[in-house]
Amino acid sequence: MPIKWDSRLSVGNAYIDIEHKLIISLINALEAVLRHPDEKDSLKFFIDQLYEFAGDHFAHEEKLQIKYMFPHLEENKKGHRSLMAELDVIKSIIYAFVEKKITSQQEANETSAKVNHLMRNWFVEHIIKSDMKMKGFMDNAG
Ligand SMILES: [Fe+2]
Repeated sequence: MPIKWDSRLSVGNAYIDIEHKLIISLINALEAVLRHPDEKDSLKFFIDQLYEFAGDHFAHEEKLQIKYMFPHLEENKKGHRSLMAELDVIKSIIYAFVEKKITSQQEANETSAKVNHLMRNWFVEHIIKSDMKMKGFMDNAG
């Protein structure tokens, strides 16, 4: 099941919300192509995009947090570092899958289940547990 955006996920800043929507789209795309063992090129494309964009997004958040004197900046920065480390693990699982010459549907399903689980936790840690603290600190601020 794809992740769906709704207003409960809003952190109260339009720019950050748009970036979170893009992250959701990339996770959903990744989850969809993971189920198809013949879609390895797209799989690599989506994980690379997600990895690169997550890094940019965290940097953007930290910049805004400095600007708006967000009190949990240091804690958030630490969280971003561990989220990137978790994404490194997910990326290496996907790369190992991509590099295998022949993959059965069963292997694709197993990798998909494993990555989906890790990806959901990653998403929840990021937006629900960490970014929600920004709510009220940078409302509609660019
Ligand atoms: Fe975020």
